[in-house]
Amino acid sequence: MSDGEAKDVEALDRDEARAELSRLAGRLASASIAYHRDDAPEIDDADYDRLSRRNAAIEARFPDLRRDDSPSLQVGAAPASGFAKVRHAQRMMSLDNAFEADDVADFARSVRAYLGLGPEEALPFTAEPKIDGLSLSLRYEGGELVRAATRGDGAVGEDVTANARTIGDIPQRIEGAPDLLEVRGEVYMSHPDFAALNARNEAGGARTFANPRNAAAGSLRQLDPAITARRPLRYFAYAWGEVSAPLGETQMAGVERLGAMGFEVNPLTVCCDTVEEMLAHYARIEAERATLGYDIDGVVYKVDDLSRQRRLGYRSTTPRWAIAHKFPAELAWTVLERIEIQVGRTGALSPVARLVPVTVGGVVVSNATLHNEDYIAGRDSKGAPIREGRDIRVGDRVRVYRAGDVIPKIADVDLALRPEGAVPFDFPRTCPECGSDAPREEGDSVRRCSGGLICPAQAVERLKHVVSRAAFDIDGLGSKLVEELYRDGWIREPADIFTLHETYGPGRARQLKNREGWGETSAAKLFDAIEARRRIPLERLIFALGIRHVGEINARLLARHYGTWAAFEAAMRAAEPQEGEAWDDLMAIDGVGGVMARTLVTTFAQEAERASMDRLVAHLDVQEAERPATEGSPVAGKIVVFTGTLEKMTRAEAKARAEALGAKVSGSVSGRTDLLVAGPGAGSKAKKAADLGVEVLGEDDWLKLIGDA
Ligand code: IVH
Repeated sequence: MSDGEAKDVEALDRDEARAELSRLAGRLASASIAYHRDDAPEIDDADYDRLSRRNAAIEARFPDLRRDDSPSLQVGAAPASGFAKVRHAQRMMSLDNAFEADDVADFARSVRAYLGLGPEEALPFTAEPKIDGLSLSLRYEGGELVRAATRGDGAVGEDVTANARTIGDIPQRIEGAPDLLEVRGEVYMSHPDFAALNARNEAGGARTFANPRNAAAGSLRQLDPAITARRPLRYFAYAWGEVSAPLGETQMAGVERLGAMGFEVNPLTVCCDTVEEMLAHYARIEAERATLGYDIDGVVYKVDDLSRQRRLGYRSTTPRWAIAHKFPAELAWTVLERIEIQVGRTGALSPVARLVPVTVGGVVVSNATLHNEDYIAGRDSKGAPIREGRDIRVGDRVRVYRAGDVIPKIADVDLALRPEGAVPFDFPRTCPECGSDAPREEGDSVRRCSGGLICPAQAVERLKHVVSRAAFDIDGLGSKLVEELYRDGWIREPADIFTLHETYGPGRARQLKNREGWGETSAAKLFDAIEARRRIPLERLIFALGIRHVGEINARLLARHYGTWAAFEAAMRAAEPQEGEAWDDLMAIDGVGGVMARTLVTTFAQEAERASMDRLVAHLDVQEAERPATEGSPVAGKIVVFTGTLEKMTRAEAKARAEALGAKVSGSVSGRTDLLVAGPGAGSKAKKAADLGVEVLGEDDWLKLIGDA
């Protein structure tokens, strides 16, 4: 069946229907395997949905022709991770944070500057509570709810449609909506519902939840929707993703439109004309916080004018047009019992405070981070005093605070209550795990174990990183199991994960299925989960290597630049710090700085590291990187300079737009410049460009070139 020729379902005869159901079963099964198991979609979500709906429509007309392997029976046939994955049509973003009134004023100023607004021009913002729940995207097609997905990593979330359908605040059908509408909002649990759920669970001997947010997350992510249905979840809509027609001209109008369609929208959403009004609304929401009946952790401000939102656009993970003004962190006093040193993946020695348990904002806290030796000693990394120079000692009464989900911190110490005989903390100079020296390099704020791969703590942390969600994401192989398998010598380095089946699978002397707590089925399941991850996108592999400074975003930049593992590896081997073509090429990647580049190059120069990577990669099928979104852009890779006055946009906006299209924006004209965009008043740069034979465009021609005219 070529999709374009599909006949109207009403016009199909029995034989045609039978044949098509068979084709659809095959096609959807193959698409589903490609997507879930292989992470390599064959068709996009919309096509998948369309085929599923066609399958359902044919079955509705010929119920007796429904096949045993029909895709309509596969709902809930959970893939390895429990939930199917959904690629969001538009990324789900997070928000930048403001903590002080000054941060809010700075935010408004930067928006003004970006948009080139004069001080007299109005710049309204909406202000509304920041709900402390979990975000959920709802996709409506033709007014019908077709898909609900969690945020996940922003690009790919989990399909929780069946569960979302059980939430009363989420309409199954909406009237007066554009044909395609993705509603974005927050799932949360109210205080009374949370208390009742915990009381019920406690009485029944089931687990209780630490806070409403955890309860909401745990309830939404239930594999059995019947359980979700019994949990009292609610939903506030506050934004949208893909839409086939605009919801309005302003944020406020858009939200009101969602309200009219039947969504709950937060009644404390207002429009403010000035920063003073925004701060006044913040104060009002903070004052009402305790009586709202649900958790909020701040106020979100959004540029009201949607055309301005579009112009402002996004940084890598956050919009330029919104900010979250967080409430101050919650505080409590307790006693510091011990300081333990943990050794991380990159060898960093991190001091952890073990505390007499204390409740901070509804959560019991017994550990907090102490950052590094300077922090304990009462100074910052430049030697300037913090806490007026007060150090932290074992036995001290300390003030703990936590903001949101982050690890609690120690803010202060009460010297009046310091026990007699308390001594300054002596920070170790050797690794507590392997005894190697732990020097502190110039400019580094932490000591690092120099043991590298021989340090068991580093090795095990690296393994945990390898199996983590943003890396190999191996279902069923979590931190605890990694620790056990490492301890028993079954897995010593990443490559061992992929030979586990060979060494501890069927027919071997020692077998996974014979370990305590394991059996035939669970072992086979883990082997399958590992097998499923042999095929891995390049960016995940680079991230999984756990090289310092190479987080998810940098890994993606590297993957997109080099395309294949072979090219990446060859370039890293060829590069030498500060010189040569390979180094220049690496440094030319937008977003790659000297520190990261040096770490990469020195890591690849270490024989043992390289051998370990080689052993790992030998077991993998590494997928080429996705082509960058700038593919086909007329300015991708070009060096562009702006000069003179731009009339249609500000310099910041022009720069962001050019960079989003893959250009590199430079401040000065040189022989390497590809293009000069010159507005009125262009002076020496235009002349230099002319002398060097660099192409010069006016603003309008530039906009035409990039398709924005
Ligand atoms: S707007 C592109 N509005 O906070 C901006 N987010 O820390 C989309 N959140 O991921 C978000 N209340 O889950 C927005 N009134 C609100 C919110 C809100 C809670 C969550 C949301 C987001 C997270 C960022």
